[in-house]
Amino acid sequence: MDFKQIKALDHKHIAQTFSRYDLAFAKARGAEVWDTQGRRYLDLLGGVAVNGLGLDPAVQKAAIAQIKAWIHSSNLYYSEPQALLAKELVGMSFADRVFFANTGAEAIEISLKIARRWGQVKLKGATEIIALRGSFHGRTTGALAVTGQPRFHKDLGPLLPGIRFAPPNDLKATAKLMSGKTCAVLAEPVLGEGGIHVLDKAYLQGLRALCDRRKALLILDEIQTGLGRTGKLFAYQHYGITPDLMALGKSLGGGLPLSAVLATEEAASVFGPGDHGTTLGGNPVACAAGLALIKIVKSRHMAANAAKVGGRMKAAFEQAQRQGAPIKAVRGLGLMLGVELNGPARPVVDALQRRGLLANATAGTVLRLLPPLNLTQAQADRAMGIILSTLKDPALAAGLKPLPARNA
Ligand SMILES: Cc1ncc(COP(=O)(O)O)c(C=O)c1O
Repeated sequence: MDFKQIKALDHKHIAQTFSRYDLAFAKARGAEVWDTQGRRYLDLLGGVAVNGLGLDPAVQKAAIAQIKAWIHSSNLYYSEPQALLAKELVGMSFADRVFFANTGAEAIEISLKIARRWGQVKLKGATEIIALRGSFHGRTTGALAVTGQPRFHKDLGPLLPGIRFAPPNDLKATAKLMSGKTCAVLAEPVLGEGGIHVLDKAYLQGLRALCDRRKALLILDEIQTGLGRTGKLFAYQHYGITPDLMALGKSLGGGLPLSAVLATEEAASVFGPGDHGTTLGGNPVACAAGLALIKIVKSRHMAANAAKVGGRMKAAFEQAQRQGAPIKAVRGLGLMLGVELNGPARPVVDALQRRGLLANATAGTVLRLLPPLNLTQAQADRAMGIILSTLKDPALAAGLKPLPARNA
C-alpha cells in the first residue's frame, strides 16, 4: 500500500483523535527509520520515548523467541518472563514488589487505587491526592483527573473527586494544600508533556518530607523519565530520595505495550488477592522484550550515554540561544530535552521532518526530543546540525522571532 492509500483508509475508518504527522513507516534500525516511500529519518522522538534503544536486534530476538514459545496464558498462571522482569526491576530500584499492566494510564490507575486504599486503612479514611499543575498522567478518566491541564478535562466531568493541584516547585503552596485528608502526592520528576520542566531538588525532597510527616504516599510518575532516559536509571536517583510507588511504562516493554507500578512492601501490602487484576497486563512477549532492553541499558551504560550525549546537546542549544537563535529556554535532563521556541513548535517539527529528522511539539512552543538512549555522538551532531540550520530557515522566520544575541 502506498502512503496515500494508508492515509485515505485512516481518514475513512479510524476515529480522528490524532492530528498525525504526514508519514507512515516501513522499517527501522537503531535510531533510524524509513518511511513508506523509502525516505530515511534520524529518529529523535523514539515513538514518544518508547523505543528506548530504537529498533534493537537483541530486543527483537527476545520477543520473537517468546512468541515462538507461548504468547499469552493470563494472570491465572505463573509466568517466567514476568517473574524475571520483576526480579530485575526490584533489584535495580527502591521497590520490593511489582504490579504489571499494559499502558501508562493504567499504571497511574493502579497507583490511585493503592493511594485510596492506603488512605482508608492507614490514615483514617484520608482520600485527597495532590497532583501538580501542568502535569500529564494519561487519558483514562482517573489519570485525567490527576492531569493538571484543564484542556484535557473539557466536557468530561465530573472526574474523580478529591484531587488538589499544586504549583510545581512551590513547596509552601504545596504544603498548604496538604492536610490530614491527604493520602498521596503524585508528581513527574520532569513534567514531560507539559513542556519538559524539571522539578527542583529541594522541591522533590520537600515533597518526600511532607509525605513522611503525614504518612502519605509519594507516587512518582516515571513513565517518561524512567529506565535511563534522564541520565540515571530512574529520575528519583537525581534527588536523593525514594518514592513509595513509581509508575513505569513507555520503553518498559521494549516497544511492546507494558507498564508497571513498583512499590515498597508496605505500600503494596494494602492490596491482597482479588484487589486488582488484568487480563493482558504483564504479557510474556512484552516482559521478555523489556527484560532484554533493560539488560542492554544496564550492561552498555545507556543512562551514562544519555547523560553525556544529552548534556552536550543541551549545551549546544544553550550556545545557539546565546548567539540569537529563536530559543526562549532549554530544559531537561539526559536525553529528555525541551527547547522552548520563540513561536509555535509544530511548523518547526514539520520542517525538520522534511529534512529527515523526527521530533515532536508539545505545550505549543516546545520542541521535544526523546531519542533512543543509544544515540551516538555522531548522530547527535548530525541532529544538532539539522535543527540549528532549520531554526535559521527564513521560511520559518515569520513564526519564530529571532532574539538578540546575548554575549555571543
Ligand atoms: C508522564 C506520563 N504519564 C503517563 C502517560 C500515559 O501513558 P499511556 O499513553 O501509555 O497511557 C504518559 C504518556 O505520554 C506520560 O508521559
